[in-house]
Amino acid sequence: MLIHFRGATARHHHFMAVAISLVQSTLFSKPSIFLRRNALNGFSFSIPFSSSSAQKIQSHKWRQPVVSVLELGGVEIGKDDVVRDDPTNNVPDEIFSKLGMQLHRRDQHPIGILKNAIYDYFDANYSNKFDKFDDLCPIVSTKENFDDVLVPPDHISRSYNDTYYIDPQTVLRCHTSAHQAELLRRGHTHFLVTGDVYRRDSIDSTHYPVFHQMEGVRVFLPGDWEASGMDGTSYAAEDLKKCLEGLARHLFGDVEMRWIDTYFPFTNPSFELEIYFQEKWLEVLGCGVTEQEILKKSGKTDNVAWAFGLGLERLAMVLFGIPDIRLFWSTDERFTSQFSKGQLGVKFKPFSKYPPCYKDMSFWINESFTENNLCEVVRGVAGDLVEEVQLIDNFTNKKGMTSQCYRIAYRSMERSLTDEEINELQWNVREQVQSKLKVVLR
Ligand code: DAH
Repeated sequence: MLIHFRGATARHHHFMAVAISLVQSTLFSKPSIFLRRNALNGFSFSIPFSSSSAQKIQSHKWRQPVVSVLELGGVEIGKDDVVRDDPTNNVPDEIFSKLGMQLHRRDQHPIGILKNAIYDYFDANYSNKFDKFDDLCPIVSTKENFDDVLVPPDHISRSYNDTYYIDPQTVLRCHTSAHQAELLRRGHTHFLVTGDVYRRDSIDSTHYPVFHQMEGVRVFLPGDWEASGMDGTSYAAEDLKKCLEGLARHLFGDVEMRWIDTYFPFTNPSFELEIYFQEKWLEVLGCGVTEQEILKKSGKTDNVAWAFGLGLERLAMVLFGIPDIRLFWSTDERFTSQFSKGQLGVKFKPFSKYPPCYKDMSFWINESFTENNLCEVVRGVAGDLVEEVQLIDNFTNKKGMTSQCYRIAYRSMERSLTDEEINELQWNVREQVQSKLKVVLR
C-alpha cells in the first residue's frame, strides 16, 4: 500500500495526519551518524528480539491506545504496513504511534514555531524561491534513504541496530536527505524538506528515537558562478556559508560561530556549523557541496548545488530552554500552553521537578547484545517514564564472559511516580530484557 506510493507522495496534500493519541515520549538528534566514515557494521539480519512481542506488555494507565490507521502525505498507512512480527522488521508499536504526530506542522509547538522561523528567513532572503515540503511520507526505500545519497554499502547507518527497517528494502527515513534525489529529479532547484526522522539509539535527555530535521538544497547554473571568476564548487561553498551564518543570526542573534571540516557521503567538501551558546560549542547542522554524482543521476549535468541538514530539537532545546527531549511529546497543558505561534525563543518555565528514581541491573551479555536493543526494550516497557539508561560497569571474567551493569533513571515530566509503579516497571524490564535479549541476569 503506502509503500507502493513512496516517491509519488511528495507534494503537500494538506491531509492532516489522523492524529492519534499522544503517547508521550522524548526525542532528539545526536551528532550525525553520517560522520562515521565507512564504519563496519557486520550486522546480521537476525535481530535478537522481535518487535511485536514488545507490544504485548500490560496497558498501563498512562498509556493511551494506539490507532491502527493513519494518513500521511496523502497515503493511508495501516499498522500492519509498518509493524510486523518478522525478523526483517524491527519497528515497535511505540514508534508506529509516532508516525502521524507531525510536531513540525503544529504552529503552536516549539518544533513548528522553529520551522516557521526558518521559513521566514528563507522567504525574506530569497524572495519565496524555496519550495517547502513538510508532509513527505517517512516510509522510504533503502535506495532513497541510502543509495541515492551515496551512503556506502557497509556504512553503519544501514545496520538494523541503527535504523528501523520495515522490510529489507524499506525503512523509516533516518534523515531528510532521503528526499534530495527525488526532488532534484522532479526539477526542484531550491527546496526545504522538514520531517520526522527515526533512529534506534541510546536513552538520555537529548536522544529520542524520533526527532525532526530540515533539509535545504540550492542548485546553481553555470551563469551563477561564471561571472564571479570562481569555480562552481568554491562559489557554492561560499554562498552556503553565508546563507547559514545568516540563518544562525536570524535564530540566535549575534552569536559566535565556527566552521568545522567534516565528512558526509553526500557532499564534498563537507562542513559542520557550531555556535557558541551558554559556554559550549554546539553542533547545529551539517552541510556541504553536493556530490556531482547525485546531481548527474538526477539529470542535472552542468550544475553545482549545496545542501544542509539540521536537527530541529537540538536548536529548539537551546532556543526555548527545554531541558529534556521527552517534553516535546508532552500533551500536558503546563507544557503546551507556554508556546504560541510566531513566538520564537520564549523561555520554557519548568512547571515542577519530580525526583528521578534509579534502578540498576546487571547481566552477562551475549554476542548480539547492543545498548540500542536494550534501550528499545526499556522504552517498550516504560515509554517516556524512562529518562536515561547508562552503562555504569563493564567487566570480562577469566572465562571470557562479559558482565554489564546499567543504571535506569525513571522520572515523569508531569507527576510523581510511586514506588510501586517503579518496582513494577523495573520488574517488567528485567523480565523482558531476559526473554528478548537472551542475557543472563545476575
Ligand atoms: N543527513 C545528515 C544527517 O542526518 C545531515 C546532513 C549533512 C544533510 C550534510 C545534508 C548535508 O544535506 O549536506 O546527519
